[in-house]
Amino acid sequence: MGIYYKDPVFVLESQSSSYVFAIRATGHLEHLYYGERLEGLEGLSGEALYQCLSQPVAFLPGNTIAYSSEAQTLGLELLAQELSTDGKGDLRQPMVAIKQSDGHKTADFIYWSHHIQEGKPATTPSDFYQRLPQAYGSETEVQSLCVTLKDRNSDLELDLHYSLFYETNVLVRSAQLNNKGQAPVQVNKLMSLQLDYLESQMDLIHFSGAWAREMHVTRTAHPGGIWQNSSRAGVSSSRKNPLVILADPSTTESSGRCLGSNLIYSGNHQTTVERGSYGGLRLLVGVEPESLAQTLKPGASMVTPEAVLCYSTAGLNGLSQQFHRFVQNHIVRGPWQKRTRPVLINSWEACYFDFNEAKLLKLAKAAKAVGVELFVLDDGWFGERNDDKSSLGDWQVNLKKLPGGLNGLSAKIKAMGMDFGIWVEPEMVSRDSQLFRAHPEYALFHPDKPHSEGRYQMLLNLAEPKVVDYLFNALSEVLNSGDISYVKWDMNRVVTDVYSPMDHEQGQTALMHRYYLGLYALLEKLQQAFPEVLFEGCASGGNRFDLGMLCYMPQIWASDNTDAYSRLAIQRGYSYGYPPSVMGAHVATAPNHQTLRAMPLATRYHVAAFGLLGYELDLTKQDAKVLSAIKDQICQYKRLRETLQFGRFYRLPGAENSRQQGSEVWYVINEALTQGVLGLFAGPVPANESFTSVLVPHLEPEALYRLRYEAKKLDIRLFGDLINQVSPIPIAQDSLTQHLIAKFYQMDEESFECTASGSILMRSGVKLPQRFCGMGHNEGVSVFTDYSSRLYVIERL
Ligand code: DGJ
Repeated sequence: MGIYYKDPVFVLESQSSSYVFAIRATGHLEHLYYGERLEGLEGLSGEALYQCLSQPVAFLPGNTIAYSSEAQTLGLELLAQELSTDGKGDLRQPMVAIKQSDGHKTADFIYWSHHIQEGKPATTPSDFYQRLPQAYGSETEVQSLCVTLKDRNSDLELDLHYSLFYETNVLVRSAQLNNKGQAPVQVNKLMSLQLDYLESQMDLIHFSGAWAREMHVTRTAHPGGIWQNSSRAGVSSSRKNPLVILADPSTTESSGRCLGSNLIYSGNHQTTVERGSYGGLRLLVGVEPESLAQTLKPGASMVTPEAVLCYSTAGLNGLSQQFHRFVQNHIVRGPWQKRTRPVLINSWEACYFDFNEAKLLKLAKAAKAVGVELFVLDDGWFGERNDDKSSLGDWQVNLKKLPGGLNGLSAKIKAMGMDFGIWVEPEMVSRDSQLFRAHPEYALFHPDKPHSEGRYQMLLNLAEPKVVDYLFNALSEVLNSGDISYVKWDMNRVVTDVYSPMDHEQGQTALMHRYYLGLYALLEKLQQAFPEVLFEGCASGGNRFDLGMLCYMPQIWASDNTDAYSRLAIQRGYSYGYPPSVMGAHVATAPNHQTLRAMPLATRYHVAAFGLLGYELDLTKQDAKVLSAIKDQICQYKRLRETLQFGRFYRLPGAENSRQQGSEVWYVINEALTQGVLGLFAGPVPANESFTSVLVPHLEPEALYRLRYEAKKLDIRLFGDLINQVSPIPIAQDSLTQHLIAKFYQMDEESFECTASGSILMRSGVKLPQRFCGMGHNEGVSVFTDYSSRLYVIERL
C-alpha cells in the first residue's frame, strides 16, 4: 500500500483502489488505470506493467494529429492523460489553457521530476491571505506525490500534487502553475483534477436544486459530448453542489463500481465529463475557469483548490461511507471534530425578528425543560434589525430588545444550564447600516452603477485584507461580549455586480476567488482565536454546503426547508457525499412554514435524528402532550447520538412490494457493531402494500441483536368516522364528542420487538408488523399512514 515509482510507472495504492500512470518516452504523463485495487504488481517490472496497462497504438486513424515526426503513433487525442492542454492535437476540453504574451496558446507539459513523501504537505501559499483550505492527515494515513512538468514552449512549470488517503480510498489532487520566465502569461484555465477514465458508459449522478429544495438527486446516462455541472452563483450553491458521481449503469446502492469527485472550495466551481471521440470519459474538476483566470507575472505562482476523488466497488453506499469517513477524519478539524453535537433550540421559526429578552428566556426555559442543551439566538439581535432591510454590518447588540446585552442574556441562559449561541451574517452589509454609511468602499459594488441586490444587502469586499481584519475585530468583540459557545454563520445571497472599488492594482481579476481567500483567512483567524466555539455554516440553508466551509465549520445548516417530507429528499442527497455529523436538521412546527404540510411530530423528529438534532418552533405554545413527546425524543436521541452522528450510514432499499413514492429506509450502525438505528419513512402510502421486511447490513453475524420499537400513542381522530365500527356510542366526525374523547383517550401503536442473530438480520431480514389497510385491525397492526415513520433501535445483546 502506498505510492511508489517503478520506472516508468507510478502506482498509488490505497486499501481498495489503485491509480496508475506512467511517463511516456516523450515525457507525457499517460493515465493507465483507476479502479479496484490491482494485486501482484510487485512481481512485475515497470516496463511490464506499462505494457499490460497501456493501450497499444499501431497507427493514428484518419485525421488525428501525430505529436511529432519522431512519435508518429502518439496522438494526444487518443491518449488517456494526467493533464491536458490546448494545441497539440488533443481536441477534448483541456485541464490547462494559457496565452503567452505574444498570443501563442499552445502548451506542452513534459515530465521533469517527482518527489514522494509521507504525510501531506501544505501545497497552498504561505501568505495568510492567500491560503486555501486543504485536507489533512498524519504520516501513517496519507502519502503524497508531486510531479513537476515543464512546458516545452515556455518557462512555465506545472506541479501536479497527489495525496493518497489509504483507509478512505480518497485521492486528493491539485495543480500549481509557476511562471519561471520573464514575461507575464495569461492563464485562462487551470483545473484541479483531470481523470481520463477509460470507460465510456457511465451514469452521471448529480445534486441540484434551489433554495429550500437542495440536493435533489438526478441520475442519467452520459448524454454524449460534454456534460457540465457548475456554479456561477458566487457560492458553491444549492443550484449545483460540487459533488458528482460516475457509476456503472448496473451500480446500485449496495453493489457495483462508482467513483465520486468533490472540490474543497466554496465559490464558483465546474465539473465537466466529456466523452472523447475515441472513447473514455474525461473528468475535469476545479474552479469555474473564468472565475480563476488571471495573468501570471514573472516569478508568480497560481494554485488550485484541492479536488477529491474516491473509488468504490461496494456501490453508492460504499462510496458515501468512504466520503463520510474522509470528511470526518480529514476535512473537519479542531476540538469539535469528533465531539457529539449538542441538541439545540433555534429562535428563528419561533420568533423571527419579533422578540425581547423576556420572550427569549421563556423559550429557553421551555427548551431546558425538555432537555435542550444549546440555545441559539438567530437573526435580529443587533443594530436596528427588525426586518431584513437593515443593519447587517452593525454588530452591536440592540439594547431595546436585550437591555442586558449578549452578556446579560447569555449569563441567564447559562444559569439555566444551557449553552448560548448567536447568529451572524458577517460577509454582508445592508445599504441601510452604519457600516455602509461610514465605509461604502468596503462593499463589493460599483459606486456609479446600479446594483442588483438580494435581500437588501451587498457583499463586503473580503478580497481586501483590510476588510478581513476589520471583520475579525468586530466579530471578536461580539464573541467576547458574552458567554458564546456557538455561532451560526449565515450568508444570504448569490453574487451579482461584482466590483471592488479598492481593486486598483489587480484590475478586478479573479475577484470572487480572492474574496474566498479572504473569507478563509477570516475563518482561520477566528478558529485560532476561538477554538472552542462551535461554528455552523449556513447560506439561506444549503447554498454553500461544501468541503471548503467544512474545513472551518464542523457542521452546516442543510436547508431552510424544515418540512420533514422535503427533508427526506434533501438529506438523502447530502448523504451521498456528506456524513450526518455535519448536517443541521431541526424539528419545526406543523403546518410547516415552508410547505404548509402538517407532518406527524414523530416523523419530524425521526428525520431530524438522522442529522444534528435541533428544535426550531415555539415551545412555549406547545401543549403538555407535545412537550412530553419532545422530551422523550431528546432523551432517546442523546442515548443514540454517537451512533446517529458518527456511525456508518446506509440508504436501504427496503423491501416493499413496490417502490413507494418518497419512501426512505435509512440505517446507521456504530463502529463497534453494538448499536444501530433503522428508520422507515413513508411518503403518500399506497393501500394494501402491507408487508415490509428489511435486510439489515453490517452486523456481527454470530452476535444476537434486539430490534425494538417503543409504541407511541395514536390520536383516535386519525381514524375519522371508522371509529364508529368499535365505539359503543355514535361519534360524529369533528364533533365536540370526538375532540373530547381524543383528549382523554388515545390508542396504542403497535409495539415491536424481535431478537435475532446478525446473520439472520443481514440475510433473511427483519419482518416488520403488517401495515394497516382498512380491515382486520388489531394491536399487532402498524398504522402507517401518509408520512408516518418508525425508528427501530438495534442493540447487541
Ligand atoms: C437564512 C437562514 O437560513 C435561516 O435559518 C435564518 O437564519 C435566516 N437566514 C435569518 O435571517
